[in-house]
Amino acid sequence: MSNVLVTGGAGYIGSHACKALKAAGFTPVTFDNLITGWQDAVKFGPFEQGDLLDRARLDEVFAKYKPIAVMHFAALSQVGESMSEPGKYWRNNVSGSLNLIEAAVAAGCENFVFSSTCATYGDQDNVVLDENSAQYPVNAYGASKRAIEDILRDFEASNDLRHVIFRYFNVAGADPDGDVGEFHQPETHLVPLMLDAIDGKRDALTIFGTDYDTPDGTCIRDYVHVCDLVDAHVLGLKWLQDGKGSRVFNLGTGSGFSVREVIDHSREVTNKAVPFNEGARRPGDCTKLVSGSQRAIDELGWKPERSTLKQMITDAWRWHQTGHYDA
Ligand code: UFG
Repeated sequence: MSNVLVTGGAGYIGSHACKALKAAGFTPVTFDNLITGWQDAVKFGPFEQGDLLDRARLDEVFAKYKPIAVMHFAALSQVGESMSEPGKYWRNNVSGSLNLIEAAVAAGCENFVFSSTCATYGDQDNVVLDENSAQYPVNAYGASKRAIEDILRDFEASNDLRHVIFRYFNVAGADPDGDVGEFHQPETHLVPLMLDAIDGKRDALTIFGTDYDTPDGTCIRDYVHVCDLVDAHVLGLKWLQDGKGSRVFNLGTGSGFSVREVIDHSREVTNKAVPFNEGARRPGDCTKLVSGSQRAIDELGWKPERSTLKQMITDAWRWHQTGHYDA
């Protein structure tokens, strides 16, 4: 069996990736410090607790499993927090990733799949963002991810590591089998917050800003189903195994939905009212982020089959009602 080191494998996207890797015949080895992840979410392969800032621990894990590739999900990822605590983002995300990259190179592991973000593009109103769009992040989270992309390009140039970089748009939904799902503490993401508000687990949702230059005044995002997203990662891994060159791919659907539209869809799916109020803008938020993801479809053969807003909210709602991890 081929081992793949999955950093952040106990988190939302990483745990879904582990399931997809196992289904594709790989052994996902989760490396996670459990600061934002859940040991309960590690169901598809071995678990190694550790922190990316601990190089000796990384070396130990590389030596033990001799992974054929790294899938790097572990990161701090809250846009708002990154604005108030930028140092935390640069240290954890950038220094941690550099440690991981150097450990991979030292262990002779040459294939690296990296979880990047559309937040690296920043606010480019009324543009569909493709992989060649300029990157002007407007928050420290996006800036930290762009810096890691730069590091990967430098290690590619020195012939040490080949990479596939995925720039995600807004990830939502959950495993339809209910094995894993989305659970953050604290929760900051729109869909799970809204589902909590719907069934009274928390107060009304606050819409962050209603004065944006969009048709209904609320921010527009491109939502992609977590299962489709991780399928692309398995294709990215195979791309590298096939000896193809380093490449960047956007992962989104090309369709944008405003916060109010997400609320409307949630009302339809759950058949329940969505309690909400209107609040101020959240620092660091872009007006509109919509993906051009044709490259992943054309070159990787990616088929995002579950990424309708209705399907994502349906799967998230099922998980919300039945799944949980022990906090
Ligand atoms: N929103 C609200 N109220 C809330 C939470 C969110 O109105 O209580 C709005 C946000 O302002 C934004 C949209 O809902 O317009 C989506 O917000 P999320 O927090 O769910 O997602 P973000 O767009 O901020 O961030 C996500 C990922 C990042 C990624 C980013 C790119 O968490 O990793 O998408 O947009 F970089």
